[in-house]
Amino acid sequence: MAQVTVRISRVVAAMGLAAGCMLLTACSEQGVQDKPSGGLAAQPKEGKIVMGFSQIGSESDWRAANTVSIKTEAEKRGIDLRFADAQQKQENQLKALRSFIAQKVDIIAFSPVVETGWEPVLKEIQKAGIPVILTDRNVDVTDRSLYVTFIGSDFVEEGRRAAKWFIENTTGDVKVFELRGTPGASCAIDRKNGFEEAIEETPRVQIIHSQDGNFERGRGKEVMEAFLKTPKGKEFNALYAHNDDMALGAIQAMKEAGLKPGTDIKIVSIDAVKAAFEAMVAGELNCTVECNPLIGPQLFDLVEALIKKRIVIKEGVYDAAVAKEAIKTRQY
Ligand code: AHR
Repeated sequence: MAQVTVRISRVVAAMGLAAGCMLLTACSEQGVQDKPSGGLAAQPKEGKIVMGFSQIGSESDWRAANTVSIKTEAEKRGIDLRFADAQQKQENQLKALRSFIAQKVDIIAFSPVVETGWEPVLKEIQKAGIPVILTDRNVDVTDRSLYVTFIGSDFVEEGRRAAKWFIENTTGDVKVFELRGTPGASCAIDRKNGFEEAIEETPRVQIIHSQDGNFERGRGKEVMEAFLKTPKGKEFNALYAHNDDMALGAIQAMKEAGLKPGTDIKIVSIDAVKAAFEAMVAGELNCTVECNPLIGPQLFDLVEALIKKRIVIKEGVYDAAVAKEAIKTRQY
C-alpha cells in the first residue's frame, strides 16, 4: 500500500512541535493523554477537540473513501468534527474556513481544491491562533508558517509510475491522450509533471492530446466521446487518466464507440479504487497507480499530538513465564 507522506514545516519544527509530529507512528500505537498546556493552539474545550474540516466535494470514489476515513476516525476518537463539503468550489472552502474561525475551533484541516488563492484566509486563521493541517492536496504559498504540515501522497511520483508502466509494457509508438484532473489542483499539476518528466528519455511515448476531466466519471466519458470524433481521436492508442473515475468514464465511451479498451487502447490511471480493479479483471484497464485516501488515522494522530501535546509511551509488564520468549525481541 502506498505511503501517505507527512511534510513538516520548518517554522513549526522550530516552535517545538516537530517532536510531536515525528512521533506520529509511535503515537498511533501508543495512546495520547489529554493534558492542557499553553502554546500555539487553542485548547480543547471540556477535553473534546473541535476540528473544522473542509472537504473538496464528492467527485470520485477516492474522495468518498477519504471522507469516510476522516469521519470514522474522528468518531472513534471522540473528536467534535465540523465537516463542510465545498462541492468542488474554492469559494465554498473559503467560506467554510472563515466560519471555522468564527466557531473558534481548536484546529482546522482542509483539502484545497486548487493550489493558489489561500494566503489571505490562512493569515486570518493564523491571526486567530488556530493551527492548520493540509490534507491530500497542497497549497502554493510563500509563507510556510501558515500551516503546520501537509499530509498527502507524492503526486509527482504517481505520474512517474504511470509513465513507467507505458515504458515497460509497450513497444512501438505510444500516442497518449492525457485526461487531466481539476485545473489548478496540485495533484493534476504534479501528476502531469511526473509523467512528462518520466517519458522525456523515451520519445516513442508521447502525449498527443491533453484535456481536463475534473476528476469526474461523467466528465471523463463526455470528454472521451468528443475526443473520439476528432482526427487525434482516431490516432491515439493510449490513455493516461489522472484518476480512475475519469478512466472508467472514458472506458464506457470507448466501448460505446466500438473500441476495445485495454486492448486497442492501453489505459493507466491513478487511485486504485475497487471499480478500477473490476475493470482490470474485465481486461478493460491495464494498470492503476495507488493513491491512498485512508488518511484518517494519521491525520488524527497529528491532531492529538498538536493539541494535547502529550504522548504516552507504550509499555508492558512481563512476568517470568513469558521471559524466555520476550527476551528474543528486547532491544535494550
Ligand atoms: O486529490 C486526490 C485526487 O482527488 C484523487 O486522485 C481523485 O480521485 C480525487 O478526486
